[in-house]
Amino acid sequence: MPGKRNVEADDETIKEVLQKKNTVKRLRGNGDFRSEECIEYLKECDICCTNPPFSLFASLFSLLVKYVNAEYPLRNKKAESLIPADMRFPDILMKRDAAHLLQLILEKICAGNAIVPVSGYRSLKEQSDIWNDSRRENGEDFTRKYVALPNHSEHQTGLAIDLGSNEEEIDFICPDFPYDGICDAFRKAAPDYGFIERYTKDKEAITGIAHEPWHFRYVGYPHSKIMQEKGLSLEEYTHFMKAHSEDKKYHFAQSHGAEIEVYYVPAEDDNTLIEIPENCIHQIYGNNVDGFVVTIWNKV
Ligand code: DAL
Ligand code: ZN
Repeated sequence: MPGKRNVEADDETIKEVLQKKNTVKRLRGNGDFRSEECIEYLKECDICCTNPPFSLFASLFSLLVKYVNAEYPLRNKKAESLIPADMRFPDILMKRDAAHLLQLILEKICAGNAIVPVSGYRSLKEQSDIWNDSRRENGEDFTRKYVALPNHSEHQTGLAIDLGSNEEEIDFICPDFPYDGICDAFRKAAPDYGFIERYTKDKEAITGIAHEPWHFRYVGYPHSKIMQEKGLSLEEYTHFMKAHSEDKKYHFAQSHGAEIEVYYVPAEDDNTLIEIPENCIHQIYGNNVDGFVVTIWNKV
């Protein structure tokens, strides 16, 4: 559907496209993902975008397991697009999945206006400007503690967000995000939705960044949960995963009995072949160092 970045197509635009082109077809039925018509499309499609209510997630999940397999592959094409992390602040962007999950946490804890995003995606230029401005204003020591070097910042990935308690004055580099009240409710709920508090006090020596109670990083579920349960920083988790190769997978049991397997595959020089069992939902991501972490959701 044509539309400007960050702008949803309105009804008029949709109507125009439907009338003018032959590329978009109307569904016969009501578009329920469980309907016969939609299942037929699911079998054919390369990429499936749907937005069921959370209560129907289990039903969607079993449909995908049934139809997305070796014959009908789920192509792991991540949406690279950035969208506003929060519609109240349209200039603060994050990767689409991370932004949606951030909103789910805020809804879950009924944050209302109590929590605001302060800084999300940054271009290289923005990170360089923040680094240079902070060095001028706060000095080298402070800046090295709280600002990542240009090209070393998670903010450049679109997967990090700085959050602040909604106060009259909000410090851009070190916003207030205390360990009590609604901010702590966010912190506690975050791992259930794929987010971790990234720079904790006890891991300063490992992360190389000072304690930042406001900085959250989207790493995806169940990785966020495993890190929380084991008390691991992202650096430690990357190391931990290396001990879990394909023949020594890490088994993560969910509360309702489903099991997720996670393992590490080292990168080969040119191409790395990763064999995935048939009939399963999986995800592969590069660990940004030397290999891939594979996650497999097993059928229950
Ligand atoms: N404040 C974090 C470390 C960054 O600049 O990425
Ligand atoms: Zn940050």
